[in-house]
Amino acid sequence: TRPLKVALLGCGVVGSEVARIMTTHADDLAARIGAPVELAGVAVRRPDKVREGIDPALVTTDATALVKRGDLDIVVEVIGGIEPARTLIGTAFEHGASVVSANKALLAQDGAALHAAAEEQGRDLYYEAAVAGAIPLIRPLRESLAGDKVNRVLGIVNGTTNFILDKMDSTGAGYQEALDEATALGYAEADPTADVEGFDAAAKAAILAGIAFHTRVRLDDVYREGMTEVTAADFASAKEMGCTIKLLAICERAGDGASVTARVHPAMIPLSHPLASVRGAYNAVFVESDASGQLMFYGPGAGGAPTASAVLGDLVAVGRNRINGTTGPGASAYAALPVSPMGEV
Ligand code: NDP
Ligand code: HSE
Repeated sequence: TRPLKVALLGCGVVGSEVARIMTTHADDLAARIGAPVELAGVAVRRPDKVREGIDPALVTTDATALVKRGDLDIVVEVIGGIEPARTLIGTAFEHGASVVSANKALLAQDGAALHAAAEEQGRDLYYEAAVAGAIPLIRPLRESLAGDKVNRVLGIVNGTTNFILDKMDSTGAGYQEALDEATALGYAEADPTADVEGFDAAAKAAILAGIAFHTRVRLDDVYREGMTEVTAADFASAKEMGCTIKLLAICERAGDGASVTARVHPAMIPLSHPLASVRGAYNAVFVESDASGQLMFYGPGAGGAPTASAVLGDLVAVGRNRINGTTGPGASAYAALPVSPMGEV
């Protein structure tokens, strides 16, 4: 079988781990996909940076030329941000490739248009890594629970802020010190304002709500409060009440069930609640649906290797689809219900 050609856009915290696992697990990936996977190019900003395990001949700063090659099967977008990621993904579709992305900011803003572009060109767009790192959530919501009726999705979906809140609560660390540590560990966004002001969690809430409720939810539809104003005194008060403080994302059906609300804000959590024991950069998400009752998804929510695990899972799924000449669930997953009035949060 001919190898599947994969281009990596971005080789930072996540991309470097994707490349490493593609190499170290090459035989397993080939067996699972049904074809070997070949790294065909790596687009970065700084070409001279030493990148362990990456053939320098594959490295380019011209991501546009890379996605226009026309012989790529899969483009993995782990650059982040809106542009140039959005244009590169569109160009990849036009030039024959399917896309795997970890870019929640872009998907929360333009997910529907990107799905439509993928569908128009007969390509896949997969993004399990965009929400809650290694934890499988997108595919369980889109596929395993597709026959059920989801009523609520609630939990901790940002590793950086959970790491900071946990440090402040358990060790008395200061906010800045804990944020610096989360950044050094590769958990934080390029601009950590996205984490601490709740934008990242709100983007994830928008993506989860869209898939869980089969509607279209964008970042702007999500009510958002960050955690920068949580203080040591707040933790002391919470403790007196037998609680701790977590940044929660809550997406639920409202009214008669035909509309949806999504919000992100710090909340007091009783110490007896499972969410109270989510430590470090771990995430945990409860999904409540008619037939299943309550499900809990738990695991590493940020970091290079855990996020790469989700990217590689998508790579296998998209690779199999390429081999079989098919595509997975696309924009139709958004279209079952009319767009809900989200002003009511
Ligand atoms: P990094 O900042 O570590 O890496 C970004 C990479 O993109 C770098 O290799 C950088 O190049 C490259 N890059 C930036 N701009 C361009 C450009 N214009 N053209 C080509 N390459 C470019 O980010 P992360 O790996 O942490 O995050 C990547 C994506 O994954 C983001 O969407 C993020 O939200 C998402 N994500 C991250 C998680 C994490 O825990 N870190 C978890 C889940 C999702 P250079 O190396 O030369 O600087
Ligand atoms: N900055 C994000 C977080 C990365 O801390 O959760 C994972 O999406």
